[in-house]
Amino acid sequence: MLMKNSFIFILVAILTIFLGEFSNPIKASSNPNFVYTDGTHFALQGKPFYLNGFNAYWLMYMASDPSTRNKVTTTFQQASRYKMNVARTWAFTDGGFRPLQSAPGVYNEQMFQGLDFVISEAKKYKIHLILGLVNNWEALGGKKQYVEWARQRGQQLTSEDDFFTNPMIKEFYKNHVKVVLTRVNTITKVAYKDDPTILSWELMNEPRCTSDISGKTIQPERYVGTKEGSSGTELPGLLGSTPAAQDKWASQWIQAHINDSKLLKKPLLIAEFGMSSNTTGFSVAKRDNYFGKIYGTIFNCAKNGGPCGGGLFWQLLDQGMGSFGDGYEVVLQEEDTNCPIKSVVIERGQCSESGDRSISARHRNPSITLSSTGTLLLK
Ligand SMILES: *[C@@H]1O[C@H](CO)[C@@H](O)[C@H](O)[C@H]1NC(C)=O
Ligand SMILES: *[C@@H]1O[C@H](CO)[C@@H](O)[C@H](O)[C@H]1NC(C)=O
Repeated sequence: MLMKNSFIFILVAILTIFLGEFSNPIKASSNPNFVYTDGTHFALQGKPFYLNGFNAYWLMYMASDPSTRNKVTTTFQQASRYKMNVARTWAFTDGGFRPLQSAPGVYNEQMFQGLDFVISEAKKYKIHLILGLVNNWEALGGKKQYVEWARQRGQQLTSEDDFFTNPMIKEFYKNHVKVVLTRVNTITKVAYKDDPTILSWELMNEPRCTSDISGKTIQPERYVGTKEGSSGTELPGLLGSTPAAQDKWASQWIQAHINDSKLLKKPLLIAEFGMSSNTTGFSVAKRDNYFGKIYGTIFNCAKNGGPCGGGLFWQLLDQGMGSFGDGYEVVLQEEDTNCPIKSVVIERGQCSESGDRSISARHRNPSITLSSTGTLLLK
């Protein structure tokens, strides 16, 4: 997220892995501990695998400073206590204050060691990671910063959408992907691309190309993942003005994506949802009720063999991180232990354990994953 005021926010990702048209393949090791996809399901070691977790874009930032590093550990500890098994976070900050990448191809080792720590701690607490590689929005750099970098090198660019087409920017971006994926973790000594802790790479947070709303620019023929988002401010008419209308909108929206996922034969991950405390009439009870409905929809879909692979709320903070709050924050230490976050987690835990669908390895689709076969191809 990290964007303008949105009333209720929800985002769906239909599996966000990688990437077509390749000339210099980067091979990852084949490792049975990678989560993979089998049709409309995620799987791990032959069993259905459901993702239950949170967004925390700030992990690398906190981990890169020894005085705040423990917040990463506490957060994973807390989350695993709630039986969460996945976190979505950023493997980028482009330019600006304490960036990972201060200029195209120039990296800040201290920040990278922070990301190393995040990955190594995640593994300790059995939490998988979804790592985003760039932002659509200008928070922490994003496509705007890439366009700016190219401008500074003499490119005549007029729009942020040039991110998707300008050859120099494409090289900047591909280099970033390559640097991150081939990074050897200084703590675990494992290359990121070979680490099963990393469940998926997200090409961009909430990609949009407003000059081409067909989506072809950001989703070329051989691009195999897709991701989509919407929020209250963007679709105000659809959202509805009463709580009942909002619930109806959310549930129809998820249902429409369940339908799409079945057609595409890919798992559906509700990758961001939340309710802002800035919403008129907000209460924690209302938020929990909303979370409960989203989790309930995911759970019922999964229980009936549907394509729902899990959900991640936006966003988890540790205590004492007030300045990172955007209104959507959840602080687990401050939660009522009877809240729906916990009860649904337990429900879904049973869902994943019962596993009546048997998944066979021969159904793995080698073309779409880093995770399943360990093959990542990168142009
Ligand atoms: C919500 O309020 C906080 C202050 O409490 C502010 O920092 C934040 O930007 C607001 N969030 C949104 C989404 O408007
Ligand atoms: C999803 O598909 C079902 C069955 O084809 C259909 O009845 C329903 O209207 C669809 N829902 C949405 C929101 O598209």
